[in-house]
Amino acid sequence: MEFPDEMREFLNNIGFYEKIKDLKPEDWQDNDDNPKCDSCPGLVRCPTKGYLITHEEIDGRIYQVYAKCPKLKMFEIQLRYSRNIRTSGLPKAYMNKTFDNFDASLNEKAIERIKEYLKNKEWRRGYGLFITGSVGCGKTHIASAIVHELAKENIYTLFVVVPDFLDEIRSSYYEDDEDYYDRENPFDLAKQSTVLVLDDLGTEKITEWAREKLLQLINYRMNYQLATIITSNLSMSEISERLGERIHSRLKAMCEEIRITGKDRRGQERG
Ligand SMILES: Nc1ncnc2c1ncn2[C@@H]1O[C@H](COP(=O)(O)OP(=O)(O)OP(=O)(O)O)[C@@H](O)[C@H]1O
Ligand SMILES: [Mg+2]
Repeated sequence: MEFPDEMREFLNNIGFYEKIKDLKPEDWQDNDDNPKCDSCPGLVRCPTKGYLITHEEIDGRIYQVYAKCPKLKMFEIQLRYSRNIRTSGLPKAYMNKTFDNFDASLNEKAIERIKEYLKNKEWRRGYGLFITGSVGCGKTHIASAIVHELAKENIYTLFVVVPDFLDEIRSSYYEDDEDYYDRENPFDLAKQSTVLVLDDLGTEKITEWAREKLLQLINYRMNYQLATIITSNLSMSEISERLGERIHSRLKAMCEEIRITGKDRRGQERG
């Protein structure tokens, strides 16, 4: 579409053509309008708050274009990462549990496979992981590490501890609260999050109602090809006995079973 000249002028004046783009150092270093980045005072004191100005030719006219400096970009990535962790639902005790502080010596193959899963972004196709092992061997630590990796990539990931989650949705169903339907429903959030972590599946004594809710959740995620990461003390085949064949059959199709070995390390960090 061709704009008449007055229209172009107007759009230019309101900043229509101003846009943020990626720049290389040579694009800004010779520009006198820019701050002197070789003696960078830091983002807070930067006269342009981390933005750099350059010019770009569009349709034979020169327009001013803004770009984020590398420091501002890095700052935004870190900010996004910490916000994603804070909103993921990770319990406080696991907020600093990452692959960097996980001792993988007993589970090298398993950890390698999980890292490969993340690197290949296999969650995109709805594939999940079923992490099984004995008490305290590091399953939830690994699930937290996965949440951290996805948070860095800005992938919406929700972490729920299954018994607490079932309690929460059970009480929200009976809540006599007029505003209830205006609030975000935890069950819907779990259904729709890009990646969902179900921590501690199968430990709870399950009622028929809870089993139905879990089935509904898992079925939804399977139908919409959304990845689910599970940790459990049970193996995949034991899930059938505990949660029934309908849940087991779906989990088997959706998730790859990863076995973690090792003794109970709970409480060791306190010395
Ligand atoms: N290989 C490991 N390297 C470092 N820390 C570990 C490792 N395994 C477990 N831990 C630590 O031990 C504690 C217990 O681990 P975690 O909570 O992940 O166990 P779990 O397998 O989820 O147990 P449960 O079945 O009871 O839920 C955590 O503080 C965790 O950080
Ligand atoms: Mg656990």
